[in-house]
Formats: sequence, C-alpha cells, structure tokens
Amino acid sequence: MTEKKSIGIIGGTGKHGFGIAKKLAKDGYPIIIGSRDVERGITKANQLIEFLKDSPNRGQISGGDNNLASQADVIVLSIPISSASDLLDPIKHNLENKIIVDVMVNLKLDLLNKGDSTYDYLEKQYPTSKIVSCLKTVATKLLNSQDTIEQTDFVISDDPEALELGLSI
Ligand SMILES: NC(=O)c1ccc[n+]([C@@H]2O[C@H](COP(=O)([O-])OP(=O)(O)OC[C@H]3O[C@@H](n4cnc5c(N)ncnc54)[C@H](OP(=O)(O)O)[C@@H]3O)[C@@H](O)[C@H]2O)c1
Repeated sequence: MTEKKSIGIIGGTGKHGFGIAKKLAKDGYPIIIGSRDVERGITKANQLIEFLKDSPNRGQISGGDNNLASQADVIVLSIPISSASDLLDPIKHNLENKIIVDVMVNLKLDLLNKGDSTYDYLEKQYPTSKIVSCLKTVATKLLNSQDTIEQTDFVISDDPEALELGLSI
C-alpha cells in the first residue's frame, strides 16, 4: 500500500478547514492543523484526536502554526481569500512545487483582479505549484458530520496529479 501524503491545513482551526481535517484524518491522511496561533492549532489537533479516537484507520494528527502546516506534502488553503497574501507570503517558499488544494470562495469579487477566480490567483502566485480547486460547494455542516458525503462537487485542475487528489478527497 502506498503511504498517504501528509496534508497541512492553513486555517484548519476554522469551520470548513476543521471539517476537511476530520474527513481526511478519518481516511488515513496524516494531518497538520495550522493557525496564526500555535496554541490554537495544537488545541484543535487535540480536539480532532479526541473526536476520532474510535476511528481505527485515522492518520497521524498534529497542530501548530501555519508555517508548520505548510511543511506538509500537500497544502489546503482554508482561510478567507482577503487574508491570503498576508498569511501566505511569509511561507510562500513552502508552497512552491507542491499540490495546493484551494477551497476558498471569493465572495467579494473585487478582492482579486477583475475576472480572476481564486484558482487564477493561486496559479499566478505559485506558478510551480499544482493547484486544485474543490470542496467549495460542499456544506461545512456536512463536512463536520459523521455522515458519508453524497454530493456532487466541482473539482478543477490543469494538473493530473492534483486533479486525482482533488477527486479522491
Ligand atoms: N464556511 C463555509 O460554509 C464554506 C464553504 C465552502 C468554502 N468555504 C471557504 O473556506 C475557507 C474557510 O472558511 P471558514 O468558514 O472555515 O472561515 P473562517 O472560519 O472565517 O476562517 C478560517 C480560519 O482562517 C483564519 N482566519 C480567519 N479570519 C482571518 C483573518 N481576517 N485573517 C487571517 N486569518 C484569518 C482563522 O484561523 P486562525 O485564527 O486559527 O489563524 C480561521 O479559523 C474560506 O475561504 C471560505 O470561503 C467556506
């Protein structure tokens, strides 16, 4: 069996990111929950460990700051798009050449260049990375529930490896 890639969740303390962490950790992915605050990241990781204590196949779970999370193999961006450059510029070197999973919804369309999606924005910022956009239309409530998600999701990527990962999660 191939080892699952580790997944760092920038903003993993939030509703959506924590729900993603639950699902992925339950599926056996090693997870690092990131936050602007080390203690908040650790606290959320401990909550997740407690939540999944009866899940036999769960992946390893840890937490800390966003810099720690950005050292994983795959990076999930689950932060408000308005904070993306402030949060990501200092850890930009850790995102290069990696798969970046974009779950951000650009509700205020004037935040990016006219017509740009979050996918376009990330492609420009991280030309060597492999971007996949997904989990944008899956309700946070569903991600946080114990139920199996039976819902259509839109998965977008130009890169076959990133697309495959997006489809699998
Ligand atoms: N909620 C939904 O229903 C839903 C559905 C689909 C997609 N999304 C997208 O998923 C992403 C996360 O959504 P969410 O509802 O989980 O968001 P959130 O709870 O507002 O924020 C997620 C995390 O980002 C950090 N953060 C929050 N505000 C920030 C700020 N002003 N500056 C810097 N960091 C900040 C916080 O982590 P720390 O304080 O620990 O650093 C927070 O826990 C968003 O881009 C959203 O558009 C959300």
